[in-house]
Amino acid sequence: MNQVEVCLTPELIHQFNLSNKIVVAVDIFRATSCMVTGMAHGVKAIYPVATVEECLEKGTKEGMITAGERGGQKLEEFTIGNSPYEYMQDEFKNQSIVVTTTNGTRTILASLAADQILIGAFLNLRAVANHLVSSRKDVVIHCAGWKGTVNIEDTLFAGALIEEIMATHKITGDPALMAHQLYKANSHDLMTISKESSHAKRLSTFGIGKDIEFCMNQSLYSVLPEFKEGKLQAIM
Ligand code: MLT
Repeated sequence: MNQVEVCLTPELIHQFNLSNKIVVAVDIFRATSCMVTGMAHGVKAIYPVATVEECLEKGTKEGMITAGERGGQKLEEFTIGNSPYEYMQDEFKNQSIVVTTTNGTRTILASLAADQILIGAFLNLRAVANHLVSSRKDVVIHCAGWKGTVNIEDTLFAGALIEEIMATHKITGDPALMAHQLYKANSHDLMTISKESSHAKRLSTFGIGKDIEFCMNQSLYSVLPEFKEGKLQAIM
């Protein structure tokens, strides 16, 4: 059996040995949900970067679409914000997007010591699970949380993914056990508890509650983005 662990916030990632492991980076509301949606709709590559300045510079110099948010709200100077609906645009097909978000891009960039970094969301849950089951590698599910704190939606995703891979991966560590228990207690109605999350409520005040419902769709897409050499590309 392999092992599956959960890092509930990037603040704790230093406690995990990532070498020779697969990291699944997750930010359900909304960074990884957007990335998965974009790749599913034909975006060629997505470049996660840490700062607004880097995003604007790369976008200008390399002719990329600039995307992202701070605190959940689109930055004026960016082409798009961070709604999955913005990533579905036909004119983005075969284009590259450079993106920076409050927590999601930081989570990806904090996982570089891993053997492989996959982008996970409820939207591609089955595709992620199938890859992990066949990988025969230990896994760390790296949750974005919110500005260093733990959040419900990423933890629920971790529990849901654990449920899908339990035949090959042993729950390892209390965070993984907690995530799985949280998922099992709510799997009959993930939407209700997800709408209670602090960021869902924050996004609802911005009038973008529809993003929450979309991000909670399970296995809508079979695309599997991998982060490698600075960019995300679909490996499935
Ligand atoms: C994040 O990075 O925390 C999210 O992407 C924020 C958001 O899109 O609302």
